[in-house]
Amino acid sequence: MENIAKHPILEIPDKKKIDFKFDGKLLYGFEGMVISSALFLNKVKIFGHHVKDRSPQGLFCANGQCSQCNVIADGVPVKACMTLLTKGMKIESCNGLPELPLEDSHVEVKDINLINTDVLVIGGGPAGLSATKILGENNIDVLLVDDKSRLGGKLVLQTHKFFGSQEDVYAGTRGIEIGNLLGEIVSNLDSVKIWVNSIVLAIFSDGLVGIIKDMDVYSLIKPKYLLIATGAREKMLVFPGNTLPGVYGAGAFQTLVNRDLVKAAENIFIVGGGNVGLIAGYHAIQAGINVVGLIEALPQCGGYKVHEDKLKRLGVPIYTKHTVISANGKDKIESITIGKLMGSWDIEPGTEKTFACDTLLIAVGLDPVDEFYHKAQQFNMKVWIAGDAQEIAEASAAIFTGKIEALKILKEIGVPLTENLEELEDFANLMKAKPPDPIQTEVIQKEEGIFPLFHCNQEIPCNPCTTVCPQQQIKTVDDLITQLPYFTDDQDCIGCGNCVAVCPGLAITLVDNRKDKNAPVVTFPLELTSKKIETGRTVMVVSNDGDLGEYEVTRARFLKEFPKTQLVSVKLPSEIAKVAVGIKLIKSSYTEPMDLYQQSHTDDDIIVCRCERVSVGEIRKWIRYGVHDFNELKALTKAGMGACGGKTCTTLINRIFREEGIEQEKIIPGTKRPLFVEVPMGAFAGLKTKKGGK
Ligand code: SF4
Ligand code: SF4
Ligand code: FES
Repeated sequence: MENIAKHPILEIPDKKKIDFKFDGKLLYGFEGMVISSALFLNKVKIFGHHVKDRSPQGLFCANGQCSQCNVIADGVPVKACMTLLTKGMKIESCNGLPELPLEDSHVEVKDINLINTDVLVIGGGPAGLSATKILGENNIDVLLVDDKSRLGGKLVLQTHKFFGSQEDVYAGTRGIEIGNLLGEIVSNLDSVKIWVNSIVLAIFSDGLVGIIKDMDVYSLIKPKYLLIATGAREKMLVFPGNTLPGVYGAGAFQTLVNRDLVKAAENIFIVGGGNVGLIAGYHAIQAGINVVGLIEALPQCGGYKVHEDKLKRLGVPIYTKHTVISANGKDKIESITIGKLMGSWDIEPGTEKTFACDTLLIAVGLDPVDEFYHKAQQFNMKVWIAGDAQEIAEASAAIFTGKIEALKILKEIGVPLTENLEELEDFANLMKAKPPDPIQTEVIQKEEGIFPLFHCNQEIPCNPCTTVCPQQQIKTVDDLITQLPYFTDDQDCIGCGNCVAVCPGLAITLVDNRKDKNAPVVTFPLELTSKKIETGRTVMVVSNDGDLGEYEVTRARFLKEFPKTQLVSVKLPSEIAKVAVGIKLIKSSYTEPMDLYQQSHTDDDIIVCRCERVSVGEIRKWIRYGVHDFNELKALTKAGMGACGGKTCTTLINRIFREEGIEQEKIIPGTKRPLFVEVPMGAFAGLKTKKGGK
């Protein structure tokens, strides 16, 4: 089994091992795990085959939004990523269309619960939790609904410390801890009711919201005010092999690795140099997974420079101006071919490279999950939207926009506000802003005493380093959160290490010349092992440009306030003390390209609608015939008619329209109808759905 037995950040809980069968074979998983994770744990990545072309199917969104991971569990078709494994479960792969359970008994229609609430918050991630906290603290009656078994949304997947301001969004604290903290706060608020494991199916024209509570009982909610905090879904790309098992989103990967503690891969390749891709790469390394490389189509990564530097100094090659040519493999991904982009989206001949990998993470951005908001607006409900559903940004920004929208609801209710909403909106915009280009900073001239060095040269909204110094010696220029930090040097640094440990970018080192200025001791943060590094051991010291050499560790320690960040001190020659930014314990992950393996592909081989297996070629053909209406395309090809309801392919098809030179205003969007996810029909008759439904 490939479970993660040790992790530098995550606690490994003692979970009960349980047996189950997959296609007749006895396997083991852990209690509390979903089926897809239990299958990955046993290296099963093909969950079935598509009815149309027998193509292998496996995990894709890991979020209940598609049906690529369908399996038959105890005779009932279920989504493997949303269904808990139970002891002795008999799971079969889903080959073709699943057979529905036989049911011919008379159905007695029962009454559906109708529940009134002041505020319904849909989504228990960073935005929904922070909004619920504000509303609950003001004694407003809130029902908070989330489709996962635990609150936190994407915070649950985030093992890294947050950027932003410490005061407003818990910067310097790990996402997972913020999720736990907010979850605990809202759970203790008297006026807040929480429904986890509960899926919102639809918003209806009479202002009612249909929800399957506890994945079992259908209820209707009548809220006076509605807050949509449904987050985002991952964007996909079209390229040959894009639907092979093993090609999936970075969020799905983090779910497997950080939530379910499954070592989901040996060698991953990442497409996309935004924060999501860069962070997923670092999380992979923390879980003992090799990152073969990362490509970014633009001339530079779009994520924070400090995240990019963390990967680079561990030896992960980052190929900018590159794109994916194909994912290769028969039943699952075995390699990826990439190529360098010329000015347009054409590949420069001769730049193709193929790398062996067993997983390809797509991290090319997120789309807001905002369908409920638009429906509620259409039906004239009093509705607000926060977090990624409102605008894609960092989770810290989502915490903040959740607060703002909750305050707006309070204002609407008539609760007097002490906060200035305009000022808060300005701050939210700062948090949501795209990171600017890094600044060329000068190396500090100081040669005496002890002082921190900031390898942080991009003006991003972040300030935890300014708040932890007991000597109050760290400030940002003009005290602005987006300006670069500096050491004021008005008073002595006492070498406490707080600044080194709190920095989410692992971008602060401490240079200590006090004993010997020709051989200063430099202290680095380390988050790659929870085991204390032995004194006397040699470690590879790195700059942002590469390895600097092996040097001896003089001290290693964990601070009580920052227990997961180890501070490792190393004696270095003075010439490299100021450029040294970290240490690495693993060998460089650089992997040589394989002998070029490239097949020629046509648009007919590339799938754009994975649910219905519709190719780019087919869509292009109809667009060229003059079809500009999504509904017509759907009728002609079935694209968008699949289990995900077009959530995955609509953006991709829009891109084909653009490639064909069709202007956006000439494209007629598809009609969006409830339901949001599949549900057994018996639910609407008041029948319990847990046993598979009717
Ligand atoms: S090591 Fe401690 S005293 Fe020195 S600058 Fe950092 S936080 Fe301040
Ligand atoms: S050095 Fe300070 S401002 Fe820069 S990333 Fe670290 S904590 Fe944030
Ligand atoms: S990808 Fe799901 S309907 Fe097209």
